[in-house]
Amino acid sequence: MSSNNPRYQQFIDFFGTPQQEVQHFFSPGRVNLMGEHVDYNGGQVLPIAIPQGIAATVAWNDSRIIRIRSMQGEGELVIDLSDEGYGKRSEHWQNYPLGVIYTLWKRQQNLKNHLRILDAGCDILLDSNLPAESGLSSSAALEMLIAFVIFSRNYAQKLKDIPSIRVTLALLCQKAENNFVGVQSGIMDQFAVAMGQHNNAILLDCQTLKFQYVPFQSRKYTLLILNSNKPRQLTESKYNERKSECDQALAILQQQYPHIKNLCEAQLVELDAIPFDILYRRAYHVVTENQRTVAAAKALVENDWLRLGELFNESQFSLRDMYEVTGFELDMLVELAQQLEGCIGARMTGAGFGGCAIALVETDKVTDFKITLALQYQKLVQLPLSIYEATAENGVDTVA
Ligand code: GLA
Repeated sequence: MSSNNPRYQQFIDFFGTPQQEVQHFFSPGRVNLMGEHVDYNGGQVLPIAIPQGIAATVAWNDSRIIRIRSMQGEGELVIDLSDEGYGKRSEHWQNYPLGVIYTLWKRQQNLKNHLRILDAGCDILLDSNLPAESGLSSSAALEMLIAFVIFSRNYAQKLKDIPSIRVTLALLCQKAENNFVGVQSGIMDQFAVAMGQHNNAILLDCQTLKFQYVPFQSRKYTLLILNSNKPRQLTESKYNERKSECDQALAILQQQYPHIKNLCEAQLVELDAIPFDILYRRAYHVVTENQRTVAAAKALVENDWLRLGELFNESQFSLRDMYEVTGFELDMLVELAQQLEGCIGARMTGAGFGGCAIALVETDKVTDFKITLALQYQKLVQLPLSIYEATAENGVDTVA
C-alpha cells in the first residue's frame, strides 16, 4: 500500500491529505563508464543507471495546478495549467521540471490535444540522495522523473508495453534542457535514466539511437563513485564552449572531407586538416574516446576488467590534457586513486569541471582503498571526499 511508504507522511505535511491515492516513483542518476563528451558529436557512450536517485511521491487532483516541492531545494514550483505561466524561475532546480512541463505542453499543443498529458493538477514531493551538480545527472534524473510521472497518468500501460516511449520522453527531456534550461547537452544522460537495466551497461550510438545492453557485473571488482565535493563552476558556459569548439573543428574538417557528418566519423589521420592547436586537441579526444567506448564494451563482453581499467586511465589523460575538462581537484583525486593498491583504473565521469570520478577497485581492497584515499585527498586538496558504491540499475519507474 502506497500510504505505508514513509514518504507518505512527509507528503501530507507539505501538501495536506490528498484527494486521490498517492503513487511513488524513482528515477536514478547515471555514471558513464566510457565515451565522455562524444554524445553531442554523434559518438558511442557506455552509461549505467545507478542506485542513487530521486524519489517522487505524487497525488493527482481535479484542479489545474501542479505543485512541486523538494526536500532538498528551496521554495515551491507552482504551475497553473490554465494561465500558461512558463517564465523561468529564480530557484535553479525548479527550471528542470518547469522546462519539461512546458515542453510537454508545447507537444500537446502541436498535436492539437490528441495527446492527453496535462489534463489535471497534481502535487509532487521530491526526495533525492543524488548529490546535485556533481556529474551524476541529477538534472536528467529530475527531468525524466517529471516526464514519466506526468505521462503515467493516462498512459501507464503504454509505458509498460512500449519501451520506445521511454526514448521519446528522453528526447523530449533533452529538448527541455537544450531549449529551456539552455545547456547544449547530448542525449546520453536522459537515455541512461530512461533505459537503464539491472546488471547491464548501455552501449548507445548517439547518432542513430541504436543501443544494446552489455553485462556489467563482477564479484572481483567494485565500481566506486568518488565525489570530489568540488562545486562545479561555470559548467554550463564551459560545456557550451566545448560543444562550439567541436562544431568549429567539424566545419574545418568538412571543407576537405565533406562526407564527414559528425566528428566521431572522422579518422585520426583526417584530423591533420585541423590546423589550430585547441581545436585539434578537442577533436583528437573525441575521436579516440569514441574508439575507447567500443573497446570498453568489448572488454566487458570478454569479462576483461583489467582492460577496462586501462581504458579508464587512458580516458582520464585525454580528458585532462586534450579536452581540458578536469581541473585540480579531479586531477588529484584520480591520480591518488590510480596509485592505490587494488585500483585497476580511474577517470572522471560526466561533464567534468569538478564533480565525480569513478574507480574500479578489487572488491577485497575496497575498505582500505576508501580510508586511505579519503585521508590523502583531504590532506592534499582540503576537501572531504564522499564515496558511493555503484551497481548498474533499472531506469525510471513506479515503486510499490
Ligand atoms: C553531461 C551532458 C551529457 C554528456 C556529458 C559528457 O553529462 O549532459 O550529454 O555530454 O556531460 O560526456
